[in-house]
Amino acid sequence: KRKKLIVLGSVNVDHILNVPKFPKPGETLSGSNYKISFGGKGANQAVAAGRLGANIQFIAAVGNDELGNKIKQLLNNDNINTCSVACIDGQNTGVALILVNAQGENQIAIHAGANAQVTTEYLLKYKEDIISADAILMQLETPLPTIEQAAKLAKQHQTQVILNPAPAQTLSDDLLKHIDIITPNETEAEYLTGIKILTEQDAEQAAMILHNKGIETVIITLGSKGAWVSSAQRGTIIAGFKVKAIDTIGAGDTFNGMLVTALLEGKTLEQAVIYAHAAGALSVTKPGAQTAVPFRNEVEEFLEQQSK
Ligand code: RIB
Ligand code: NA
Repeated sequence: KRKKLIVLGSVNVDHILNVPKFPKPGETLSGSNYKISFGGKGANQAVAAGRLGANIQFIAAVGNDELGNKIKQLLNNDNINTCSVACIDGQNTGVALILVNAQGENQIAIHAGANAQVTTEYLLKYKEDIISADAILMQLETPLPTIEQAAKLAKQHQTQVILNPAPAQTLSDDLLKHIDIITPNETEAEYLTGIKILTEQDAEQAAMILHNKGIETVIITLGSKGAWVSSAQRGTIIAGFKVKAIDTIGAGDTFNGMLVTALLEGKTLEQAVIYAHAAGALSVTKPGAQTAVPFRNEVEEFLEQQSK
C-alpha cells in the first residue's frame, strides 16, 4: 500500500520578471519575459511529490475566486488531494513578486494573502488525517504557530515530520525537537545555527548543532556542491548533477517533494537524495516553479543517462 503524505504549506501566484541586474533603491529598470506562473513553496513541493506518484493530501488556502479555483483544479491534475485546500472569501491567493537577474539569481517579495488563514484552528479540522499519515512535509510560508502545532501533533502520533525551513528564519528549540528531517540551504542553516556555511566542516558543525536539538536527519543543500547529508550524527557529502541553470526558482521545492516521496517509497537516504538531486537539476533547466517540476519518467531517464 502506498504510504500517505501530507503537505502543509503555501500557494502563491508568481509574477516573474527577468532583469539585467537587480535595481538599486530608487532605481527603475526595464525587465523582459514577464510571466505569471503558479508557485508557493507548499504547492511546489506538493506538485513534485504528485509528479512522482505520491499519495498526497495538501493542507493550504487560496482566495475564493476564479484564480484560486483554477489553482485547485491544476493541483488536482497533479495527483493531489485538495479537499483540505480552503477557498477563503475576501482574501487574495498568495502572491510572489520575483526578479531574476542575468546570473539566474532571484529576489522575491511575498504577500501571504489567503496563506495567512491556515491557522491552528483550520489545521485541527484535519487532525485525523495528520495522525493517520506516514509523513508530513512543511515549509515556512504558513503561520509559524500552525507549523508548530502540526509538528507536535504529528510527532506524538509517529507521523514523520520533515521541515524545509524556507524562507530563512530563526526557529524555537521547541519546534526543532519535533522535527525528524530538516533540509536547510546554506543561508537557512546559518539562521538556525549561527554558523556561516563555507566549507564541509562548517556544514558538519551546523548539522551537529541541529542533531543536538533533537533532529535525527539533517540535509544541508549546498547548491552546485550537492548536499551535506547527516543522520544519527554521521555525515557525508552527496554530490549533485551539473546542468545549465536558466532559473533556479522552485529547485529547492522540487528537491524536497521528491526526497520525501522517494523515502516513503522505501529508498535509502542516499538513494533518495540522489533522486532529489536529479529532479532539482532538471528543474533549473526550465523557467518557473511548477512548470519546471519534472515527471517520474524524466527523472529516471536523466539518472540512467548520468550513470552511462
Ligand atoms: O521556492 C520558490 C517559491 O518561493 C516560489 O514559487 C514563490 O512562490 C516563493 O514562495
Ligand atoms: Na525553474
